[in-house]
Order: sequence, then C-alpha cells, then structure tokens
Amino acid sequence: MEIGDWKATAELNSIYRQARELGLETNLAELEAFGFTIVEPGKAAPKAFTDRMLDAVLAVAEREDPKATALGNRAQSEKPAYGRQLFHLAAKDPIFAEAIMNPTALTLGRYLMGASARLYSTVAFLKEGAAGCTNMHSDSVGMPPPFPQYGHVCNISWLLTDYTRDKGTFFIVPGSHRLCRHPTPIEQPKMMGGVNDDEIGMPIEAKAGSLFVFHGNTWHGTYPKKDDGVRAHVVTALARNYVDPAEDFSDLSDDLVNKMGPDFARLIGRNAWQGYGSEGPRYERIIAVQRANQSPAA
Ligand SMILES: [Fe+2]
Repeated sequence: MEIGDWKATAELNSIYRQARELGLETNLAELEAFGFTIVEPGKAAPKAFTDRMLDAVLAVAEREDPKATALGNRAQSEKPAYGRQLFHLAAKDPIFAEAIMNPTALTLGRYLMGASARLYSTVAFLKEGAAGCTNMHSDSVGMPPPFPQYGHVCNISWLLTDYTRDKGTFFIVPGSHRLCRHPTPIEQPKMMGGVNDDEIGMPIEAKAGSLFVFHGNTWHGTYPKKDDGVRAHVVTALARNYVDPAEDFSDLSDDLVNKMGPDFARLIGRNAWQGYGSEGPRYERIIAVQRANQSPAA
C-alpha cells in the first residue's frame, strides 16, 4: 500500500517511506520481532567505505595511548569488554561523520529512536589476538527497570572485519527486547559465569561490511575470541531526543558541522533546547524538535 501523510503517524510516515525506498522493510520487521537485524555487506555502503573505516580505526588506535582512556588504565577484570574501546570517533576522522549520516544507518536508527533522535556515542571495539567474553547485558545503560517496549537507545554497529563465533562475534538473545529489563547475573550463560545454557543466545555471523543494528533492550554480549586476527566494529549509537548522550559532541569543529549540514548539527545536539538557565528555553529550538518529528527529511 501507499504510505500517506497520516496524522497519527506524522513522525513515522517519511521514515517508513525512506525505509521502503532503501529496501529495508524486512529489517524493520526483524527489529520489531526479534530486536535486531543485519544489513548485508555492500547495501548500506560500498565495501571500500567500510575498509576505509577500518583503516581509520587502526590509525586512531596507533596514535592513541591505550592507557590514556578512563577504561584503558584499569585492570581487565574491571573492564566491561576485552580489547580496546576507542571513544569519541566523531571528532577524530570525517569518515565517522559519514557513517553517522549514512542513509541506511540513519533510517533504521530513526525508525527506532524517532525522527528527532540524537547521536549517543561513536566508539570502536578493537580486538587483536585472543580475548574473553563480554557478559550479556542490555545497552540501556543505567536505565531502571522496567523498560518500556520501545528503546531509548539503539546500537548501530558497522562490522569492519568478518564476525564469526571463533572470531569473538556478538552473542545475542533474539526477542529479549520484549523482556523489558536487564539480565540478572544468574541469567548469564554458563560461558559468562551464570547458570543458563549457552544456547539461550546465538552468534551474529556476518561478513565485513555488514551493518548490525539492535534495539537498546536486546540482551547481548560477545563470544570468546580464539584467533590471532583483528576484529573491529564501530558503533554509531542513537538515542531518543530526551536521553542524555553518552558523549559530549560540543568539541566537533564548525568546519565539520558546516560540511555535514543541519541534520548532522541537530543529531550532535547543536541548538538543543535542553540545558538552559534562568533565561528559560528558546522556543524556536523546541519547535525545531517538534518539526523534526513531523518532517525528518526537512
Ligand atoms: Fe553492549
């Protein structure tokens, strides 16, 4: 059927039309039903683009001191994940801004987070050599349960190398977004120290260049990595407009923001209506959010 300019779905009509145009309707259905989806390599962006992203991640890793981050100087037992996490990538190479603005990534993210979505974080997960599991969790960090059925954050992961079980891919529990809570420690699978059978979840097996997107409620972790190779993905996470983003994007250069355009500026919180003092809110900024929800392509 044709999607009209229906009043009750004013925030959704054009996102849905865009999803259809990009051939993403199956991905929307999978997100609804199971809380995750995979876009095959070459569909969101040419393989050459994700190869360039991998080069950019490795270049950032090369020039940054692993001990210089808040997580990097802690013992492995105190870290939430093995390997390195390279934070705040949006400020480090323009290719990450391109990934954020990629039409497929943005359409799936905005379907989940609303048209007025904000950028939440831009982080690479890089593992070289063997690594242990990351425990099962939801990305609704710090959110008190129960969760609503709709997500407050969504994870948009650009897989830059081949992901398989032995290469330490994601462990995911299909449909767990419907449980609307964090997993408890005892619910961890055995390989992560809990009592559940490891088969409560499944591996995300996908080639380099795939886009793996999941709902913020969905339970996931990672399998142990057994090979010596590089495993890398970049997350360009989005959140609902009222969620405090994990990263502060105020240091992004005006040059970059001007080059990427007003949609990017809104995503990174330039001209956000929140954060006012005694002067009170600037209503034109509130109206801009309302307008974004009704006409995301504008
Ligand atoms: Fe996570």
